[in-house]
Amino acid sequence: MPPSVLLTRRIPSSVVASLESACEVELYEGPTPIPSDMLKKRLVGKQALISVLTDRITADVIDAAKDLRIIANIAVGYDNIDVPAAKARGIIVTNTPDVLTEAVAEFTWALILAAARRLGEAERFVRRGAWKEWRLDFMLGTELRGKQLGIVGRGRIGRAVAAKAPAFGMEVLFATRRAGAGRHERPSDEVSLDELLVSSDVLSIHTPLTPETRHLIDRRAFARMKRSAILVNTARGPIIDEAALAWALKERLIAAAALDVFEREPEVLPELFEFENVVLAPHLGSATRETRTAMADLAAANVIAVLAGRPPLTPL
Ligand code: DGY
Repeated sequence: MPPSVLLTRRIPSSVVASLESACEVELYEGPTPIPSDMLKKRLVGKQALISVLTDRITADVIDAAKDLRIIANIAVGYDNIDVPAAKARGIIVTNTPDVLTEAVAEFTWALILAAARRLGEAERFVRRGAWKEWRLDFMLGTELRGKQLGIVGRGRIGRAVAAKAPAFGMEVLFATRRAGAGRHERPSDEVSLDELLVSSDVLSIHTPLTPETRHLIDRRAFARMKRSAILVNTARGPIIDEAALAWALKERLIAAAALDVFEREPEVLPELFEFENVVLAPHLGSATRETRTAMADLAAANVIAVLAGRPPLTPL
């Protein structure tokens, strides 16, 4: 019997075709992310799983999947998977780094610009027919030139965002975990998170979600930020304490926020809808045709390699 793979979401047909040349393909087509019980049932007899970030691949699910050899997540983030549980069972886990770096970096800049120039608010204003005259002092934003972009994390996406900063005349500083090690051990463009918080005009989050980074941006962090600062998050929602963000916006501790990710997606903390100075997007960072196809392609290539007894391309 050929090996088989479960897809928890539809992927481009060209990618399905390449999978079909190597294994049997079963697609889950429910209206919502696959429920845990259904996932366990569908994984019986499957050697491979191609998952997306809304699938919760818990230790429980992994235990039930006796034949599973690989979990190929179509995402660079993998906080939806209990990786230690998979590894303990000898199951390979892969993600999709690199192929989405530019798309997420571009979207981060879209959010930075939208927040700085009040694009969401402006669009809503025009659409509701409220625009009556041009005024010199109307809906003024803030310029990016000469300002500091603070990047939390120095992975591929953080670096790609930084690489575009000179085009906008922005200085870049990073905060990484290494920054805690002591000043003399850091590159000159790295500071501690505290230093980044107090000095940044735009603070952009590009670090994975881990127990250490959950609620990294909390009340204490907001209290340290500039009142004119813009906070941007295209990484993972729980890195920001959303209740603390709503508090900071209400107290005007920061000027604006632009969020692509949320603590309890697809739910958005209702208070956030009340602020004109918050740009909200439905987790679109990697959402270009090119990138989503490349992500699915890479996940499929990982599955095909492992099922053929070869090493995966992008293992964790
Ligand atoms: C990822 O790959 O982790 C992104 O969040 C998907 O857009």
